[in-house]
Amino acid sequence: MRRHHIFIMAIVACFHSLTVSSQPRLQAENIDDVIAAMTLEEKCHLVLGCGMSYGDDAKFPGTAGSTYAIPRLGIPKTYCADSNQGLRMSARRDFDSRNYFCTDYMTSISLASTWDKDAAYRIGKGIGNETKEYGLDWILAPSMNLMRNVLCGRNHEYYSEDPYLSGTIAAHYVMGIQSEGTAACVKHFAANSQETNRNANDSRVSQRALRELYLRTFELAVRISNPWTVMTAYNSINGKPTCEDISLTETVLRGEWNYKGLVVSDWNAGSNATASMVAGNDMLQPGQDKQYHELLANAKNGSLPMAVLDRNVKRILQFIVKCHNFNNYTYSNEPDLKQHAADDRKIGAEGMVLLKNENVLPLLAGQNVALYGCTSYDIIPGGTGFGGTTVGRYTVSLVEGLRNAGYSVYKPLINQYKKHIASEQKRLYPNGLPPFSLQPLHRAEEIEMTKQQLQEHAAANDIAVITIGRKSGEAADRTQDEFNLYAKERKMISQISEVYHKDGKKVVVLLNICSPVETASWKHLVDGILCTWQSGEQVGNSIADVISGTINPSGRLPVTFQIAYGDAPSDKNFPSDVKEVKDLATMYMWGNDKKDAKREVKANIDYTDYDEDIYVGYRYFDSFGKEVSFPFGFGLSYTTFAYDQMKVNKQGDTYTVSVEVKNIGNLPGRNVVELFVAAPHNKQLNKPEKELRDYAKTSLLQPGQRETVTMKVRTADLASFDEKASAWKTDAGTYQFMICSSTNKIETECPVAVNSYKKKVNNVMKPQVKLNRLHR
Ligand code: BGC
Repeated sequence: MRRHHIFIMAIVACFHSLTVSSQPRLQAENIDDVIAAMTLEEKCHLVLGCGMSYGDDAKFPGTAGSTYAIPRLGIPKTYCADSNQGLRMSARRDFDSRNYFCTDYMTSISLASTWDKDAAYRIGKGIGNETKEYGLDWILAPSMNLMRNVLCGRNHEYYSEDPYLSGTIAAHYVMGIQSEGTAACVKHFAANSQETNRNANDSRVSQRALRELYLRTFELAVRISNPWTVMTAYNSINGKPTCEDISLTETVLRGEWNYKGLVVSDWNAGSNATASMVAGNDMLQPGQDKQYHELLANAKNGSLPMAVLDRNVKRILQFIVKCHNFNNYTYSNEPDLKQHAADDRKIGAEGMVLLKNENVLPLLAGQNVALYGCTSYDIIPGGTGFGGTTVGRYTVSLVEGLRNAGYSVYKPLINQYKKHIASEQKRLYPNGLPPFSLQPLHRAEEIEMTKQQLQEHAAANDIAVITIGRKSGEAADRTQDEFNLYAKERKMISQISEVYHKDGKKVVVLLNICSPVETASWKHLVDGILCTWQSGEQVGNSIADVISGTINPSGRLPVTFQIAYGDAPSDKNFPSDVKEVKDLATMYMWGNDKKDAKREVKANIDYTDYDEDIYVGYRYFDSFGKEVSFPFGFGLSYTTFAYDQMKVNKQGDTYTVSVEVKNIGNLPGRNVVELFVAAPHNKQLNKPEKELRDYAKTSLLQPGQRETVTMKVRTADLASFDEKASAWKTDAGTYQFMICSSTNKIETECPVAVNSYKKKVNNVMKPQVKLNRLHR
């Protein structure tokens, strides 16, 4: 009996060892074997995320999600988090006494304003490093949609109105992240340029504008930096949800651009999981039970082809084998936060744009400063929403920054504003701040001061500094009211200017903003305007560094400051007065703004016509001769630069442009060199006046010092998209190459003979309706 028992045991053990040894464990080399060993259920789990990482049992509380683990096949979980401004993760964990602070870096619009690819790389590297050192694998950044309209709620998360600037800054940020072995995720692919009704809005846009602007931004990032992942968007393009559009992901991204990485949906985007799978969204995040059951049933009945499921699973496994958690990286929980804060401080300051300076800045050392405006005492480091600031961060206030720089800040005003802000908070939030405080917060109203009070301040101080703040974020766009100054803000600027000027004192305005505001009606009243954007945890120090001249401002506008709302052609087709503030938590989790069948279909809500076509931002203002308040590419310095010796050298299809920059002022400084090209007139394809084709930034030049910078353009980069031929085309002819210091100022230029170029691509993503397209 016993012998018989032992015999059975031996057979079982033998069978067990056979089955165990026939189970592969995931390696980069055996992915096909692993797929062959997976059950259908495991495949359907792997293509879905595992929910968001909130609550007690989350390994990394406050992060966006993870991928499914299959331990028997050696497939670990990998972890992802938002986003552009830094690793968004709760700083505190239950039953754990330590802090998990991450660096709260500058907003993307602020980074792009540096026009410095190395700076973008450095910030990306810092974020990639923190992601790695805190045990995660994948950062859901950069957001890189084109700024189609100044009111888009997520503009601070995006880079520019120009695809070349956006695409190249994003690419260097991605290379920085990935230099740490951390995965980047370029998002939201594509034409996701408004937040109102974001889960269901249809962007109706011509193939040309799509190709030249909205897709081009991503094409540059994909080709230059090979991001490991791409995220599709919530919106539709020309009638199809981006996450269900095979033309976008398989034909264009993978087919034409040769992209080899992973594609993931935006969180809870789309309503048809099978269609998303077929379209080449390899993984749907954060994953829902109903999606699992749908995929399983459809895989069984054949409507989700096994070849598609296996293809997507394969791309996921190819991604996982590159991740830190797969490679058993031992993380420290101790990234170099000091160094990263120093990077934020310096690069944040270099992204500030000096818009006006009439002998006021830099400020003399040790001056007495009177600070006005609630934002001066409640400085905004970044935007709201998942791309916004990290959880548990600190912020260097403006008062602290100015004091660190040796200025004294007028105390009676500090006390007055502190009391006022506290009482405004009670008025605005009688029940305390909303629990899910990601929504743009209502701002306190400005204090109205009497002229006599202001006279007392002016007598006691050397200068008035006024801060105007605007905050925005995911799930809601700004309104026209927020673009304009509020009545009390206007009054504050004009009264302070009048009183201080009478006393022979100057006034500087700081724009601590998320996207352009109206400046034309009041800019003549003040002596200086510094657009500080929102530069992260070190914001107070960065502002003080620029004000004091420790850092000479070298930022340039990545977006036009139009005179009035209504001036840009996209203003006609944008939800500029939707005041309803959605509950982001509900909307985020369930996508509850899906179109209600009973409701009448509304322009700019259910669909948005991109009638301005290719004339977005400066492409419009410059081509149609429309005056602006501050043009694209504009920014002053405390020194002056001269340009000389422009040369264009042609080799094959590449033009190398060089120019010598000389610091002819009295202070050290860096300068941005902008290369625009104007194409010859073309009867069929109307062309913008000129377009940004490359840019460079000098090192810190001492007074009198020169530096030659070089930039490159290929014949292909000069192409326009010809819809009839479904091809990129560059006409042969004479092109004007221009070195500019903004779209409105050509510094030096030369004509260049360019050869023709043509490349056919797929005729996809056509609008389903006739658009009223703007022509020159
Ligand atoms: C946002 C994405 C973000 C995702 C995960 C979505 O609401 O649109 O940008 O990465 O949430 O948090």
